[in-house]
Amino acid sequence: MEGLTREEAVEKVRENVSDDKLRKHMYAVSDIMEGIAEELDKDPEKWIKAGLLHDIDYEETQDNHEKHGEISAKKVEGKVSEDVVKAIRSHNHEHTGSEPSRDIDYGLIAADALSGLVVATALVMPNSTLEEVKVESVMKKVDDSSFAKSIDRDRIKMCEEFGMELEEFVSTGLEAMKEDADRLGL
Ligand SMILES: [Fe+2]
Repeated sequence: MEGLTREEAVEKVRENVSDDKLRKHMYAVSDIMEGIAEELDKDPEKWIKAGLLHDIDYEETQDNHEKHGEISAKKVEGKVSEDVVKAIRSHNHEHTGSEPSRDIDYGLIAADALSGLVVATALVMPNSTLEEVKVESVMKKVDDSSFAKSIDRDRIKMCEEFGMELEEFVSTGLEAMKEDADRLGL
């Protein structure tokens, strides 16, 4: 199916999300998704769109988190591939009941969590830039449970479900985010 172009997906983010930080979060997740897709020889268009669109309902579901993911999925149903819709539902499987089962589902969950840890790591660098972040810095933060406590390390480690070692995943994700540092403002 053709559906939304990448640019139209970015436009959807802008339409649905007013918070700049949240928009940047979705750009970061889509960057990591693109990096994984290229590495694993998957369809980058699908992976990028899942990353871009997964949280477009975040602002309207703040008070009813059980609807998170479901509303995003409904908003894009018929406009993107079913694989993307399912990945969006599965990233909040605890509430939507749509269990992750395919690489793209695990990819989205892991990229969502890794993006947060990379941003948190960049923010404690002397100049708060991505450029200063090394793979080893992020690897240390994965093991430091007192750092950025709200980020679930088990979700990051789901990279194994799509066949990537943790260090390879961190390196791929970090590189992909660095290439987009301007848009991410880091
Ligand atoms: Fe997210």
